[in-house]
Amino acid sequence: MTEVIFAFLSKIGFHHPIHPALTHIPMGMVMGAVTFRLASFIPRLKFLARTGYHCIVLGFLGIFPTVFAGYLDWQHTFGGQWEFLIILKMVLAVLLTALMATILYMDDTEAPKFNKVTLFYLLAVLLAIGLGFSGGQLQYG
Ligand code: HEM
Repeated sequence: MTEVIFAFLSKIGFHHPIHPALTHIPMGMVMGAVTFRLASFIPRLKFLARTGYHCIVLGFLGIFPTVFAGYLDWQHTFGGQWEFLIILKMVLAVLLTALMATILYMDDTEAPKFNKVTLFYLLAVLLAIGLGFSGGQLQYG
């Protein structure tokens, strides 16, 4: 299936990896989510907690096509070779998915507090940084 997809993309003039373009959805949304969450502690900006939550919704939805594209690039460019950075990315992707699902379930955007859920927002940024760093190492060495 992987080669069929890449052969099709090549035929329409697209010769690049597909994962890097999609990574901007979860990466950007996680960064936005934590920024809006922290801003919501300023009393007049409390409403931004909801914006942060919406970033988590879109980031969470974006994880699935991003992981799929990462898998395809891994098969196509790296021959599906198991290596530390790929395993690390898989583990971090599962943790980020679970963490974002937990935030979606637990967060109360009407009364944002510096509580466990806010720590989860901060942890999501660390996981996203880990995914980006290991991806950059794979791509650029
Ligand atoms: C939420 C999940 C993930 C995020 C946010 C993410 C993020 C990234 C980023 C930022 C890069 C660097 C892209 C660039 O060069 O500009 C990258 C590269 C890469 N990632 Fe991921 N990644 C995720 C999951 C995965 C998974 C599960 C795999 C493998 C099964 C994977 C495989 C790769 C590969 C092979 C590269 C090298 C560039 C390429 O050929 O696509 N990623 N990733």
